[in-house]
Amino acid sequence: MTRKTTYSIRLMKKKGKKIVMLTAYDAPTAAILSEMGVDMILVGDSVGNSLLGYESTIPVTLDDVIHHSAAVSRARPDCFVIGDMPFMSYKVSAEQALENCGLMLQEGGAEAVKLEGGTDLVVDIVRTVVDAGIPVMGHIGLTPQSIYQLGGYRIQGRTADLAEVLVQQAVKLEEAGAFSLVIELVPSETAKMITETVGIPTIGIGAGPYCDGQVLVLWDMLGLFEDFKPKFVKKFANVRELIKNAVAEYSKEVREGSFPDEEHSFEMDEEETGRLYGRTKPKED
Ligand code: KIV
Repeated sequence: MTRKTTYSIRLMKKKGKKIVMLTAYDAPTAAILSEMGVDMILVGDSVGNSLLGYESTIPVTLDDVIHHSAAVSRARPDCFVIGDMPFMSYKVSAEQALENCGLMLQEGGAEAVKLEGGTDLVVDIVRTVVDAGIPVMGHIGLTPQSIYQLGGYRIQGRTADLAEVLVQQAVKLEEAGAFSLVIELVPSETAKMITETVGIPTIGIGAGPYCDGQVLVLWDMLGLFEDFKPKFVKKFANVRELIKNAVAEYSKEVREGSFPDEEHSFEMDEEETGRLYGRTKPKED
């Protein structure tokens, strides 16, 4: 597979080819996604919920995402790698945004950044970052970093007026230079309207079938969590069950002494064994 770029991703929308995006936070997983032909990897701030034990993405730091993005990029995947800019790492000032987005590329090895929000403040920051030569993916609809302001994980753009606000945000983000756009937790019709209005690819999560591509948090679609079951997450595997079965079998074999067996152990050659025991074996009476 040839490496994906902002150019090839944009071309996919023009050609009507659906874009496949998943999150990843480590090198082995990134290598698997690359092998399976996934188009884009998002090193999401969802690493906070998925790996770091946080209840939201708010506590995730720039260093956290850079650390995981660097691991993903060390796998040299053919997928296009996007580093998710965490809470308040880009909204304080244009200088802060430029510096931190630059670090995501330099130290995190990402090829683009994702910035949440469609307000004028964010649109201006997107323009500044794009002008500096850093590709930006936008993110509108439910933006988890604004969860307290939005009043919880609620469906956005549910009325025609609210949908129109999202369409306008998408248009402004495209004008500011975003190369693509995540749309999260909105009715299918709202996502369809946005997708038909903008020329850049839209990537949906909980946004129905009409987006140009789809993204899911890998840990959710693999079925690693029992207590997190939003309607839009389809479990494509039950990896939690696989892990539980493997751990149960390992524990059983360790406890009964059948692991490690000969196949998984190393032997000294006979002469050395004799010498070893000749020296150390207690004398028999
Ligand atoms: O952090 C993340 O994984 C995301 C996706 C849900 C789009 O932002």
